[in-house]
Amino acid sequence: MAKGRKNGLYSGVSEELSALMRTGWADTEQHGLPLDEQAPYAAGRRAALSARFPGERLVIPSGNLKTRSNDDTYPFRPYTGYVHMTGDRARDCALVLEPRPDGGHDAYCYLLPRDGRDSDEFWLGYTAELWMGRRRSLAESERVLGVSCRDVRTAADDLAATPDVPTRIVRGVDPALEAAVTTDAERDAELEEALSGLRLVKDAWEIGEMRKAVDSTVRGFTDCVGELSRAVASSERWIEGTFFRRARLEGNSVGYGSICAAGEHATIMHWTDNDGPVRPGDLLLLDAGVETHTLYTADVTRTLPISGVFTPVQRMVYDAVYEAQEAGIAAVKPGAAYRDFHIAAQRYLAEKLVEWGFIEGPADRAFELGLQRRFTMAGTGHMLGLDVHDCAEARNEEYVDGVLEPGMVLTVEPGLYFQPDDLTVPEEWRGIGVRIEDDLLVTADGSENLSAGLPRSADEVEAWMARVAG
Ligand code: GLY
Ligand code: MN
Ligand code: MN
Repeated sequence: MAKGRKNGLYSGVSEELSALMRTGWADTEQHGLPLDEQAPYAAGRRAALSARFPGERLVIPSGNLKTRSNDDTYPFRPYTGYVHMTGDRARDCALVLEPRPDGGHDAYCYLLPRDGRDSDEFWLGYTAELWMGRRRSLAESERVLGVSCRDVRTAADDLAATPDVPTRIVRGVDPALEAAVTTDAERDAELEEALSGLRLVKDAWEIGEMRKAVDSTVRGFTDCVGELSRAVASSERWIEGTFFRRARLEGNSVGYGSICAAGEHATIMHWTDNDGPVRPGDLLLLDAGVETHTLYTADVTRTLPISGVFTPVQRMVYDAVYEAQEAGIAAVKPGAAYRDFHIAAQRYLAEKLVEWGFIEGPADRAFELGLQRRFTMAGTGHMLGLDVHDCAEARNEEYVDGVLEPGMVLTVEPGLYFQPDDLTVPEEWRGIGVRIEDDLLVTADGSENLSAGLPRSADEVEAWMARVAG
């Protein structure tokens, strides 16, 4: 557990210093902390998981810090399944569901306790609170999470003590815990699949968090439009920094690397270098999402004319993407096949591309062969939640081959991308990329566009920019 720092300026710790450090500290235990408002929902999620695996022990780790260099680490991101099942976001932890004879489970959070002041650990160790910040005590965590808590340093021994209990663990999250149990890779993958699938329908508390994420994102986009002239004077980085400031002020961070793509960068799906110029006359494709303190993220895209007004060709492309999105959004309703929104949007874009003469018709044939994909590139959306591409490990039958249900949250994000070196389109179309992306909540009788606070149609976007653009 020692930090193991080479070339530090102190070569050792005298006995007197060690003794001095251990004395004179106040008791900071917090008594009477309230139960987290998420706790009852997390208990419901654990009950749903428990019902899937009667008689089996389930181990869901949170993950460890990753070293960047020496004693510097990357920002910690807990494993999504752990967050969902506990509401906790701590590192080096695990949720263990121990099977009961009645088929249910008892839940234990194995957590790092506070560092005692009776060893050097609190100021010299890997987990040193004096360097990393105060953690909750086990008693505090029990009150906040509503789960029995144990010292994670006993987890491996506890698991090894009863090796006959059939066990599953989520692999690839915590190598040390993984080494402490004997499990089967296929059965472990089923646990991950179940955890992912249980996130498909959001509970009421999660929907509230999604609204917060989207509302902060709307404010972040408005910030960016307000700062456009400063971006023109510098680069895409100004946009990235502007959105990031909102994300850090109102939430934990951005939910994924912001795509701040001006000009032909808009045709690069995962453009995150964000170091290009922002030029009047070009479009700016901004794809960004604020992640709440509880780690739920929005995922929104707007494509803006940097001058405030679309050129005729930009508007033609924009209008086609807008109509495709309208067709996609109309297909988001309970009972619809998940793929319907994708098919509706892609079919519309295939028709437009045939009409423009960029792919060979008839449109039905072009769509069947997927010819539109040269210009649409990506699928039309995905589930959204704790992960930007949420529920990615869920079974196909309950996700892409499944049916929409109230409480699901997904993006609808058609786009058209004309690469700068694409000789099959006229020159003035080259380098244009347009995506419009909104976050849809499936409701009892249709859907609610959570990101409706941002203008979508070309006219609305121009009017908004005229009002807000700085
Ligand atoms: N920002 C990633 C996506 O739209 O899927
Ligand atoms: Mn996006
Ligand atoms: Mn998306």
